[in-house]
Amino acid sequence: MLTENSQSAVRASAAGYILKVSPALRENERFRYGSGMNHILHVVGARPNFVKAAPVLRAIGQHDLRQTLVHTGQHYDRNLSDVFFAQLEIPDPDVNLEVGSGSHAWQTAEIMRRFETVVLDRKPDIVLVYGDVNSTVAAALVCAKLGVRVGHVESGLRSFDRTMPEEINRVVTDQLSDVLFTPSEDADANLFREGVPKERIHFVGNVMIDSLIRLLPIAKACSRNGFPESFALLTLHRPSNVDNSEKLRDLLDCLTCVGEELPIIFPVHPRTRQRISEFALDCDNLRLLEPMPYIEFLSLQSRAAVVITDSGGIQEETTFLGIPCLTLRTNTERPITVTAGTNILVGDDRGRLVRELKDLLQGKKKKANVPPLWDGHSADRIAGILRRM
Ligand code: UD1
Repeated sequence: MLTENSQSAVRASAAGYILKVSPALRENERFRYGSGMNHILHVVGARPNFVKAAPVLRAIGQHDLRQTLVHTGQHYDRNLSDVFFAQLEIPDPDVNLEVGSGSHAWQTAEIMRRFETVVLDRKPDIVLVYGDVNSTVAAALVCAKLGVRVGHVESGLRSFDRTMPEEINRVVTDQLSDVLFTPSEDADANLFREGVPKERIHFVGNVMIDSLIRLLPIAKACSRNGFPESFALLTLHRPSNVDNSEKLRDLLDCLTCVGEELPIIFPVHPRTRQRISEFALDCDNLRLLEPMPYIEFLSLQSRAAVVITDSGGIQEETTFLGIPCLTLRTNTERPITVTAGTNILVGDDRGRLVRELKDLLQGKKKKANVPPLWDGHSADRIAGILRRM
């Protein structure tokens, strides 16, 4: 914590006075600006963070660098957290902030409050944050205020839709970051346009695909476990799709009709399960399951005739796997999955969803390619860059 003396010294410095630097301030300055990058602290909080951080932890582990892992506890259910740590072979977190659920402001503020103490105590040289969840922006804000460097993994993605909480998290985190690791070249372009200096931006590829490539052989070896030969895989959790009763009813009705022709497997996110029960909605013809572990879900994705989703990461995973993806959103922060990959944005247009599904079932598939640097080595590039710094 800044002492009263050091705070006034910093203020005096800002006003241009000559400082007599106290030992406490000197220690603080070293902490603020670092003396090389030896201690890397990672912050994860929600399911997609775990998939992104796993390969980075492993790649940095090959170098002579100290690592600390902080779990904010944003996701705390066994199915959304522990199982991912086990399957992705992530070491137990050094610290769990156990923040749990709450409103956006409460959750973000509570993570900030609890994380600040950890940063002051552990004194990392850089903090790596992942993706676009509340834990990401909360940790970035804490570090920026303490003058600790921030590295953002999966930087630069933009949906240009500020009604999405994740878009706000992305924009703010990127503005606060010192080192920005991007998954695709559109992300670099977004960052340039927002005035981020070029030397801070590193196009490294997609770390989520690193995890996928590593575990795909195991996923492919999983048994079918009673799943049908041909099926659609559905995931839904965006507030914009599930928090409005009319919209969710309309969507589930439409999918129930589709389910008469093609079995639909639906691992249900806790938020969505709550809404389905709150709005007393029918899910006839849909096969509802608990949220699935990473490997089992990957196994289903790789075998699906089509994936219907509103997730961000699944748009990328299906593109890599060459599996058709119909995204229930009007925009995406991952446009490369549309321009190069298998993704089609069907938005809120239920007629379009049904037409696209019919086309797919008749074998009319989009031609698709895997984007550059989605090659399983993105985390190695990140580790190399941090090592050189
Ligand atoms: C969060 C991310 C979203 C990401 C998603 C992946 C933000 C703003 N959103 O959304 O970008 O795609 O994770 O799953 O950070 N809940 C549980 N158990 C848990 C966690 C949550 O039951 O372990 C329930 C709670 O009722 C909670 C609700 O799910 O209120 C929403 O959880 P929250 O972490 O706020 O956001 P997600 O919808 O999971």
